[in-house]
Amino acid sequence: MFITFEGADGCGKTTQLVLLYEYFKAKGIDVLKTREPGAQGLGEKIREILLNYDGEVSDRCESFLFLADRAQHIDKIVNPAVASGKIVLCDRHIDSTVAYQGYGRGLDIPRIKMLNSIATNNIRPDLTFVFDIDVKTSMQRVGQEKDRMESAGFDFFNRVRMGYLEIAEQEPNRIKVIDATKSIEEIQKEVVKIVSELI
Ligand code: TMP
Repeated sequence: MFITFEGADGCGKTTQLVLLYEYFKAKGIDVLKTREPGAQGLGEKIREILLNYDGEVSDRCESFLFLADRAQHIDKIVNPAVASGKIVLCDRHIDSTVAYQGYGRGLDIPRIKMLNSIATNNIRPDLTFVFDIDVKTSMQRVGQEKDRMESAGFDFFNRVRMGYLEIAEQEPNRIKVIDATKSIEEIQKEVVKIVSELI
């Protein structure tokens, strides 16, 4: 099983991923936690460029870097783990590229989706959580120290948020939208309930 965690920066998805990881571990379930971009090795180098490079990066170049990281991640980490029977929890995946580079940067969305399927070899998550939060709150949570992506501005993050909600409407079976303004405990209960229903 392949479960992905999505949402704008500051939405709390990483906290929830770690909590679900610990929940599975406590039950003795074989689980892997990973992330995009930059799970390990080559991916970490790509992440470093994407988040910290201070020169100009074209929107198309940015997209291809995320996609390159994804291809490496799927081939070397996600697929082998799923094949060995692990539950894989991944912090960001295909929907981030549609939301950020498609809706956020304004690149052609059908093309981004097509490139996503090339990068993943048509592997798709079984379940995706989108942690939805208003932009003002999420930006407050991110704080003053922003990386290259987090510096994109209010309008950009508004488009990203709307993008996630639109994607979720298009795929209601796979994508579950969670109100990320609730408490950590309330959200975790909701996440565990949804996952348990699926398992
Ligand atoms: P993180 O802060 O959740 O680790 O994600 C890194 C940043 O990269 C975050 O601002 C979202 C962005 N991102 C994209 O713009 N497109 C993508 O495809 C992915 C995976 C992340």
